[in-house]
Amino acid sequence: MSETAQIKLSENTYDFPVITGTENEKAVDISKLRDLSGYITLDTGYKNTGATKSAITFLDGEKGILRYRGYSIEQLAEKSNFIEVAFLLIYGELPTEKQVADFQNEISHHTLVHEDMKKFFDGFPSHSHPMGQLGSLVCSLSAFYPESLKLNQTEAEINQTIIKMLAKMSTIVSWIYKKSFGHPVIYPKNKYDYVSNFLHMTFGQRTEDVEIDPVLVDVMNKLLILHADHEQNCSTSTVRIVGSSDCNLYASISAGISALWGPLHGGANQAVIEMLEQIKEDGGDTQKWIAKAKDKNDPFRLMGFGHRVYKNFDPRAKIIKKACDDVLEKLGVNDPVLEIAKQLEEVALKDDYFVQRKLYPNVDFYSGIIYRALGFPTDMFTVLFALGRLPGWIAQWKEMKENKEPIGRPRQVYTGYTERDYVEMQAR
Ligand code: CMC
Repeated sequence: MSETAQIKLSENTYDFPVITGTENEKAVDISKLRDLSGYITLDTGYKNTGATKSAITFLDGEKGILRYRGYSIEQLAEKSNFIEVAFLLIYGELPTEKQVADFQNEISHHTLVHEDMKKFFDGFPSHSHPMGQLGSLVCSLSAFYPESLKLNQTEAEINQTIIKMLAKMSTIVSWIYKKSFGHPVIYPKNKYDYVSNFLHMTFGQRTEDVEIDPVLVDVMNKLLILHADHEQNCSTSTVRIVGSSDCNLYASISAGISALWGPLHGGANQAVIEMLEQIKEDGGDTQKWIAKAKDKNDPFRLMGFGHRVYKNFDPRAKIIKKACDDVLEKLGVNDPVLEIAKQLEEVALKDDYFVQRKLYPNVDFYSGIIYRALGFPTDMFTVLFALGRLPGWIAQWKEMKENKEPIGRPRQVYTGYTERDYVEMQAR
């Protein structure tokens, strides 16, 4: 017999179906609650609310499990590459050799962005934040590729927009990087795979055909895979909710980019490095900064620590910490903030405050140190997170459309004034 849940409100009792996911996750389906009883549920920050059923990513925060389409993040980070993972997330299965070659080939043929988009860079103030530029440029793709605005598109038409979105994102990200130094942009080359092409446009030379360092290609693939999806987080929920109004893919992704920017979400990778630098300049006393993080009267938080769903460890952080050691060694980089990060982690993991609240290093704690070793400036870090998260956002947007989900529209409990009469100016 299927399980039901009962809710008793005043004198009445209502039955609601219990939904069980493939990993045995349970949810009470309260979609008929208001119709039946007139009540709604209240869950600020959606800590207990499932917004959708999804077959893309599974996450068990207690056990530290993360899987894309059933494949563990550990295996994907070790054995796969970003473009294969992008295909997996978006289309549901690992691609065959031919499928991935076709996918890569199609993307390569759309990496050029409209020349007029370069004019945006003349308008942005110098040193404007790369995330602000990225959000604007991605939204503007809808102006340059207006076929994406058509309603009721065929699968093939939607797919074309998906390919263009993936293709143009890497060009835009590398151009933002180049323009931040006032350097001329480098155009994509079809002979490269996705990640190599990105590194070519970012660190390559205009004239010479330099070989892309395989260490960079490898670590970049790993970082992008680790960021590629994370089920219904703040930015992904934003992409789904914006897309649920039938908004085009570019604008939906742009909204996700804005949500990601905040330091409590993707912006944490920039905030971590700034924090580590601050601690270093202050003399490197990690105990002092741990005490500040624990002090409820001090707004300081240990950036890169804690997570809404991971309450044991963040499996991405484990992989990144090891990658960080490996890459710095291979590149011969000695970054003093790495030592401070390790000390902070060690102290925090033994401290009751952090232990009781189950606060552990998250994906952002070590990623910035790697980006820095690769040569990216701090304010580019969150843009790199966005580049990695793109296939996840696309997959979630596509799933939301395929499931024909209704427009996202939460309710509220109103706590303002009840009705009152307008007061004339002279009487106020
Ligand atoms: N430093 C100090 N105390 C913390 C921290 C921290 N980084 N994170 C949480 N706490 C405390 C918090 O003060 C609260 O204490 P109390 O119960 O005494 O009031 C308790 O731990 C629970 O925290 P919360 O803020 O209620 O938890 P949340 O689930 O709403 O927030 C979080 C999760 C990630 C926003 C939060 O842990 C945080 O602000 N971390 C730092 C920012 C960060 O690293 N964000 C990146 C997240 S991973 C990348 C991504 O996918 O977005």
